[in-house]
Amino acid sequence: MIDKVKQYLEQVAQHTIANTEELEAFRIQYLGKNGLIPALFKDFTKVPKEARKEMGILLNKLKTEVAHKIDSVKAQLEEQSMQTQGTEDLFKPVACNVGSRHPLAVVRQEIIDIFSRIGFTVSEGPEIEDDWHNFSSLNFPEEHPARDMQDTFFIEKNPDIALRTHTSSVQVRVMENNKPPIRSIFPGRVFRNEAISARAHCIFHQVEGLYVAENVSFADLKQTLMYFAKEMFGKNTGIRLRPSYFPFTEPSAEMDISCHICGGDGCNICKYTGWVEILGCGMVDTNVLQNANIDTEKFTGFAFGMGIERIAMLKYQVNDLRLFFENDIRFLGQFEATL
Ligand code: PHE
Repeated sequence: MIDKVKQYLEQVAQHTIANTEELEAFRIQYLGKNGLIPALFKDFTKVPKEARKEMGILLNKLKTEVAHKIDSVKAQLEEQSMQTQGTEDLFKPVACNVGSRHPLAVVRQEIIDIFSRIGFTVSEGPEIEDDWHNFSSLNFPEEHPARDMQDTFFIEKNPDIALRTHTSSVQVRVMENNKPPIRSIFPGRVFRNEAISARAHCIFHQVEGLYVAENVSFADLKQTLMYFAKEMFGKNTGIRLRPSYFPFTEPSAEMDISCHICGGDGCNICKYTGWVEILGCGMVDTNVLQNANIDTEKFTGFAFGMGIERIAMLKYQVNDLRLFFENDIRFLGQFEATL
């Protein structure tokens, strides 16, 4: 029996333990209810008196060796797992995809750049508007059917507060707060209560332009818009102005550009007409100038408004407006990351 204990002592010393499962198996093997050490203690009673002392010492030694091994391996394993948890290299370079600018942001910036080259500054107004700035000051009489041209999201009734239906609301705000000459563009989000489809959305973006000074004429408007069309769509682009109606401009027009896809020969983008509509414009109505306390004997002005989505659709040949709002990176990733 003494030899047996000595053999166990040697085995314990040599036993290698690599993980917590092996440690637990080791513990059960020696100290478990049916383990080797309890069995030895049971046999101890049968040991002859003269051998008991030596045997007792050896047995206790075995027990403490096992307990010591369990404690030290346990501490070692804990240390190891802490080290692996803390060894992430926080400075390791990762493969990260550089994002791209949203196409609407790219086009918005391009429009701003084009107009700032000819002296237009940028202003902004609130998205939640009162009736005065969105409608009344812009010469939409109350109950006038022209208000139905744009289906409105109302927030409050009497007095009416609504999400602005167009960036023309910023025109009067800017004229109320600045003296002519005013030469500014107003980019922003607008809202209309419309069913969402490939051609319409309840949220979209516009850029409004306003120029008020002495002797501003329709010819100035035409020249400015021609410059814009050529900068945006290429120097061979032609424009045409068709008479139209807006309550806040008189005379009013809609501007088409020659189709930059087919060069005017006819294709499905221009519906085989050779022309595509891109904006509304006109000379600022005298009522609107007077509503902003501008001296109409002295000053005249022109205004225009365009949809950023429309320009982006033409420029990048996107045939579904909804793509701009879905944030699908397969779509967004196709646009430049610069700007
Ligand atoms: N506000 C008009 C629209 O949303 C566009 C426009 C702006 C027309 C300025 C004329 C002058 O349709």
